[in-house]
Amino acid sequence: MGRIFSGIQPTSNLTLGNYLGAIKNWVTMQSEHDSIFCVVDMHAITVPQEPEALRKATYEALATYIACGIDPKKSTLFVQSHVPQHAELAWYLNCATPMGWLNRMTQFKDKAGKNRDSVMTGLYTYPVLMAADILIYHATHVPVGEDQKQHVELCRDIAISFNQRFEREVFTVPQPIMPKQGARIKSLRDGTKKMSKSDPSDMSRINLTDDADTIAKKIRKATSDADVLPSEVKGLESRPEAENLVTIYAALAETTMDKVLGEFAGQGFGVFKPALANLAVEKLAPITKRTQELLSDKGEIEAVMRQGRDKLIPMANKTLDDVKQAMGFVTL
Ligand code: TYM
Repeated sequence: MGRIFSGIQPTSNLTLGNYLGAIKNWVTMQSEHDSIFCVVDMHAITVPQEPEALRKATYEALATYIACGIDPKKSTLFVQSHVPQHAELAWYLNCATPMGWLNRMTQFKDKAGKNRDSVMTGLYTYPVLMAADILIYHATHVPVGEDQKQHVELCRDIAISFNQRFEREVFTVPQPIMPKQGARIKSLRDGTKKMSKSDPSDMSRINLTDDADTIAKKIRKATSDADVLPSEVKGLESRPEAENLVTIYAALAETTMDKVLGEFAGQGFGVFKPALANLAVEKLAPITKRTQELLSDKGEIEAVMRQGRDKLIPMANKTLDDVKQAMGFVTL
């Protein structure tokens, strides 16, 4: 039994991509692993946030984790800024991470685009804070969607080189874990783009706070094509929107794409979209409802946050002591 660690940024609503790419896997894995799930508010501020919106989104994210099936009795849930040791470790790791490694990060290139000189330094060093999140608890596995795989690989490189440099196993080298289906859910408007909280079009994503009518409308209006569904997955090649909708169906129904196509081969989107809308509403509406119920008692959510923080601070301090000892700091 290893230890898993993962997190999501509280930047507006969580999406179907977050659910299928990450949280759904967390729910399955929490029974077999010591599990720690974080709301990474310090990552969220790498781009400007409205203070009140950030606070609200932090409560919402934690409530959504629980509503999706993360059990605070089995797993440790907490807010990143409540354990400031992450930021301290990130500083030490900043001093042990070559800039060349960060220059390769595709997410920074995508997010900074042409504004490399005006985005904040935190956006650039963000993967180092993510490495600190994982390494401070000696996580063995990190369940994430495909877009975070490169960051987990960087974390591995940092851990390996740190251990080599200081000639001791200070850090556990973690492995990324991705779901077989749903590791990269695409935008409902453009099957070549990732479904993302930051897409300006709300119609491009399903938010875990959307009500049943909104979910159904977004699926009805999702970009598709005029062909019927093929009988084999190969037939979806070069049909990114169709492939995405079939992927979403299979992931929500916990089946394979082949089985979905077995059921819908020869049918057009006039039949498939309503079936997908029904399935999505059936799976997601209870999550939305439960999230709202949980949010009506902030005290309860704060109790979960406090419990997580109190459990994790001693663990984090232990790792920091080892790191400081290895690096040559005077510890009293
Ligand atoms: P974030 O907040 O962008 O996304 C959270 C999780 O959701 C997954 N995800 C998706 N999966 C499939 N399809 C999509 N369209 C999609 N969009 C998002 C992401 O891969 C991720 O697993 N840096 C991280 C948060 C983080 C973290 C960590 C993760 C901070 N520290 C330590 C793991 C371990 C991030 O910004 O994820």
